[in-house]
Amino acid sequence: MSDLAVEVKNMTKVFSRGLKKSDYVVAVDNLSFDIKPGEVYGLIGPNGSGKSTTMKVVLGLMSPTKGDVKVFGYDSGDIRARNEIGFLPENPYFYKHLTGKETLKFYGKLCGFRGRELQDRIAELLELVDLESAANRRLGGYSKGMLQRIGLAQALIQRPRLVILDEPTAGVDPLGSRQIRDLILKLKDDGITVFLCSHLLEQVQEVCDRVGIIFEGRMRREGPLEELIQIEEQTAMTFSGAKPELLAKVRELIEADSGATIVEEGHPKTTLERLFVSLSHASNTDDKGDEK
Ligand SMILES: Nc1ncnc2c1ncn2[C@@H]1O[C@H](COP(=O)(O)OP(=O)(O)O)[C@@H](O)[C@H]1O
Ligand SMILES: [Mg+2]
Repeated sequence: MSDLAVEVKNMTKVFSRGLKKSDYVVAVDNLSFDIKPGEVYGLIGPNGSGKSTTMKVVLGLMSPTKGDVKVFGYDSGDIRARNEIGFLPENPYFYKHLTGKETLKFYGKLCGFRGRELQDRIAELLELVDLESAANRRLGGYSKGMLQRIGLAQALIQRPRLVILDEPTAGVDPLGSRQIRDLILKLKDDGITVFLCSHLLEQVQEVCDRVGIIFEGRMRREGPLEELIQIEEQTAMTFSGAKPELLAKVRELIEADSGATIVEEGHPKTTLERLFVSLSHASNTDDKGDEK
């Protein structure tokens, strides 16, 4: 029995595009990576790089052309693998005339929940995704961020051990994205393994333990986030309250060392996103994310 949540080994997926044999596209090319239980793993890459295809193979929705894909030790095509997975597709489709609560009831019933157990599960999930106040509103009036959150609740109904999220924050405004990221971190706290993909690099940075960078179907870099974004030979120091004389002394010391140079100097910046979030928190005390 494997002790990995996801194991992708030399996976290739080729799509034929027409009747001619020569007309095909290699969507994923000899891809290998592992996801450990409890980890948040992010696959990042531009549009068309093979992220959704990789997810569909892991989900068992399509079989690989070559290679092996396992989920908790089972072949990804095995129903026992599928039972462990919750999935939020890219641009999920929902019945717009159903309310949030009715939507969860519909999916809960599909998963075999009934009666009291179903009611309790729905209440628990609405609380988790912070949609209790919008539970009786139709999805037609939900914002993109709220739709993604109800989609996430739907993916969690059957208590999966692995959750797969395809572009969970695409098209969601910064506050809504933050709520989704906080939710992902909550899932991680609960020991759920998360496999997400995104073409929005900054959004991956705050939640992922490990990241794979995919381009034209091939893995270009892979590893713990900290290692990937660290600039090995550089060191940054941030001072508070340093007077110009002290800074001049520091500069002198560095210039006197033949091996060292100052690459950058200035005031540290916040990210635009953090600034946006702090400003909107200040102007909206009873903040409810991107709800209208
Ligand atoms: N069902 C399909 N039939 C033919 N080509 C496909 C199919 N699904 C994806 N592709 C092609 O495979 C490549 C990778 O697509 P995809 O996995 O959706 O990328 P991403 O999710 O990274 O944007 C693209 O060139 C896309 O056009
Ligand atoms: Mg995609």
